[in-house]
Amino acid sequence: MSRVSAASESERHWFEPIADHMGSAYLRYAHTKGTVQEVDWLIVALGLRPGDRLLDVGCGPGRHVHELARRGMIAHGVDISATFIDLAERDAPHGATFERLDARRLAVPGVAAGAYDAVIALCQGAFGMMLSDEDDDAVVAGMAGALRPHGMLALSAFNAYYAVRYHTEATFDVARGLTRERTEVHDPQGRSLEVDLWTGCYTPRELRSLLARHGVDVVSMASVEPGSFGADPPSAESPEFLVVGRRAQC
Ligand SMILES: C[S@@+](CC[C@H](N)C(=O)[O-])C[C@H]1O[C@@H](n2cnc3c(N)ncnc32)[C@H](O)[C@@H]1O
Repeated sequence: MSRVSAASESERHWFEPIADHMGSAYLRYAHTKGTVQEVDWLIVALGLRPGDRLLDVGCGPGRHVHELARRGMIAHGVDISATFIDLAERDAPHGATFERLDARRLAVPGVAAGAYDAVIALCQGAFGMMLSDEDDDAVVAGMAGALRPHGMLALSAFNAYYAVRYHTEATFDVARGLTRERTEVHDPQGRSLEVDLWTGCYTPRELRSLLARHGVDVVSMASVEPGSFGADPPSAESPEFLVVGRRAQC
């Protein structure tokens, strides 16, 4: 297993101390409770079959990887948080593996080139936690590059229209397409920590052009919420867009 070297505090991703504090308490949050429905939907939408190789980018404590491995997939999760990777490795079923990796490094030649039948990034998994256009681009480049020709991609991204209309507890930075929410997160003992949560927000048009730049054709784009993946057309009324794409022939 390859591991990124220990980073100094200033080099750490802004989410790492938050993940360190939450630990397993992350899995108490409501948005993590829909894993079975989400995986049911992914299997159909991505045409997954037992034995397929799948990469989960920003896998957190590994809830999707565990469930996909239980269904017969060979599933690998990468995350920048060592705390979440340690949690994911506990009780991992056969077929589930994990690695601490910065998703921006997936684009480095040879790291994951063409090895996967499908790649996913769900619930702000790495992609939605980037603070710059360049980092967004690096994550999507890495996801696209990890796919074999015609391999499938699923990405959920926070809905910019919904953020402006309904996410009033956060401030929206229009120029950067980011929300910043001052909030409290809790550890397994219930102790709170005040933090800033940053979320990248997107429109369907931005997502289509970002994916097209990296050779991924959009197959479908739906408005969804966690635990309720489906095929509702994009609207301003739900928090996330869920994009399914297919890597073009190289
Ligand atoms: C909100 S969590 C979602 C986790 C998981 N996909 C889920 O659905 O529960 C976002 C995850 O992205 C990870 N992440 C953020 N930036 C990353 C990066 N540059 N490389 C890898 N993982 C990253 C965080 O550590 C965190 O585990």
